Amino acid sequence: MALSISLTVNGKPVTATIEPHLLLVQFLRNQLRLTGTHIGCDTAQCGACTVHLDGRAIKSCNILAAQADGMEVTTIEGMVKDGQLHPMQAAFKECHGLQCGFCTPGMVMSASALAAQSPNLTEEEVREQLDGNLCHCSGYHNIMKAVLLGAQAMKAGA
Ligand code: FES
Ligand code: FES
Repeated sequence: MALSISLTVNGKPVTATIEPHLLLVQFLRNQLRLTGTHIGCDTAQCGACTVHLDGRAIKSCNILAAQADGMEVTTIEGMVKDGQLHPMQAAFKECHGLQCGFCTPGMVMSASALAAQSPNLTEEEVREQLDGNLCHCSGYHNIMKAVLLGAQAMKAGA
């Protein structure tokens, strides 16, 4: 049985017909072709699928697309505004906070939601709050620097 859902994705209204069991991550990648959101596991551990749902960072492999009905979803593709990188994206670039780039969209979405919620982030908070996002390449050192720099830039621009 197909369901009809209406939601906002990266600021644009989207109406779609979906199967009830479709995961939000599959909807974003396969139906909307927003392939920046990645799938790195099947146990909700890696965080590569992190997006914002009504401003909160969530793992889009862990909810159904139907649960996002009526809500606002932002993916990594929606972070650039007027051709300018979001400050958290710019900080990852500046601090070399990515290598293969597979974890990066999820990292940026988690980090930007965290910084929006706690503007005066400490390294300890970042380590604790971002433990739902795994990276196989970086050893986390430069990600840490990037998140703290991005948080400062977001605060300065707020
Ligand atoms: S794909 Fe790994 S947590 Fe979602
Ligand atoms: S940059 Fe490769 S997994 Fe994080």
